[in-house]
Amino acid sequence: MNILTDEQNEFLKDLVSQFKFSASSVDNIAQKFHFEMERGLAGRPSSLKMLPAYVSQPSGKEKGKYLAVDLGGTNLRVLLVSLDGEGNSVVEAVKKVSIPNEMFSRESRVLFDFVASSIESFFIENRIERTCKFDLGFTFSFPVNQLSVNSGKLICWTKGFAITDGAGEDVVELISNSLKGVGFENIKVVALLNDTVGTLVEESYANASCDMGVILGTGSNACYLEKTRRISKLKENFHSKNMIVNMEWGNFNGYSSTTFDRSLDRNSTNPGEQCFEKMVSGMYLGELSRLVLCEMIERKLLSNKVSISFLNQANKLKTEDMAIVASDCSVSLTTAEEHLCRIGLLGTSVSDRVILKRVFEVVAVRAARMIAAALISVVLWMDRELTEKHLIAVDGTVYEKYPMFKRNIEDFLGKYLKESSRKVLLTLTKDGSGKGAAITAAVSGKDI
Ligand code: GLC
Repeated sequence: MNILTDEQNEFLKDLVSQFKFSASSVDNIAQKFHFEMERGLAGRPSSLKMLPAYVSQPSGKEKGKYLAVDLGGTNLRVLLVSLDGEGNSVVEAVKKVSIPNEMFSRESRVLFDFVASSIESFFIENRIERTCKFDLGFTFSFPVNQLSVNSGKLICWTKGFAITDGAGEDVVELISNSLKGVGFENIKVVALLNDTVGTLVEESYANASCDMGVILGTGSNACYLEKTRRISKLKENFHSKNMIVNMEWGNFNGYSSTTFDRSLDRNSTNPGEQCFEKMVSGMYLGELSRLVLCEMIERKLLSNKVSISFLNQANKLKTEDMAIVASDCSVSLTTAEEHLCRIGLLGTSVSDRVILKRVFEVVAVRAARMIAAALISVVLWMDRELTEKHLIAVDGTVYEKYPMFKRNIEDFLGKYLKESSRKVLLTLTKDGSGKGAAITAAVSGKDI
């Protein structure tokens, strides 16, 4: 039964066509991806930074206890990870702290000092001898121009971080200085890595067929295993014939955008950058949907009881709210209503909620398909005829907590790759930025 008015249906129909992304667009997207990848690997201007990670797949035999720090979203984590040398990694202790809001817009020093003092509290809470020697793997999930596995200069902040400095500085030096500041001369930062790299490394510790790591959470990005000889911008010799490359695909600019995407971009902390990320990741999907709903309010297509004051606030609607509404299959969307009331979006009628659910679906389906097209592009870059199996390690709250996402990505892979989609497997890999950092520390501790 359609309980919506003609005008509402008309708006939604138009929305669907604006957000349409079909399998027939994949060839074109893959071509654009390959063009940008090639340029990025050659060190030419490209929307894909294609950053060498100076690390390859682990052997699975890495052993020992390592410290790991994971910085890159709203939380900071400090972990003690133990590797058994047989493909198993175990988190022995972990401390999770949310990064105080004001740190997102102060100097980088304040943030790194906060990291060091959190490590100090981690030692105290877990009764670890303060002078104990440790190698540390640092997952720092921003674009970094790595100079080696344990050094790299920050290119820019992303995901709403508006820190006033830090770009151009060596991240390992920044963290090491802060560690020295609290007297931790015994902790050596031996590996600096992106969260995508940690995810790939963690999965391939036990499974060598993993050749791609993807994050679909607050931000989105991917890395993959590249033939070292194809990274033509690489000046240094690297000991392995393969190296992981952090694509920074969030900045890809080959997808066409809607007026809603452009408006979101204009009001972001980094206009013109991370355009793909702004269409697919957790930090932005709620906001994108909110912009659509605001347009509907303007056109009087939602009932007049809906709390406009809620919808008028930027970033108020979260991606997790979308997930909850989207998973309510009852006729009157009662679970959705309860949730909307809880977050302060009051006064929705059944038709409002039907509309909300539909809008969320349209925004999320496009995102999932765009991710699928990006995956296809990278897999075809590695293996044009799809002769091998590719295991893709995926982590991130959007992928994990929004079931519709995984389903839509897989459906779309099937639509485009047909039979060959059997060769492309996605697996949820939890905690690559913790465990993967420890494994990378183990690999690189040997190399440096
Ligand atoms: C942003 C960062 C990238 C990171 C991704 C996922 O896109 O630039 O480095 O991997 O978020 O956290």
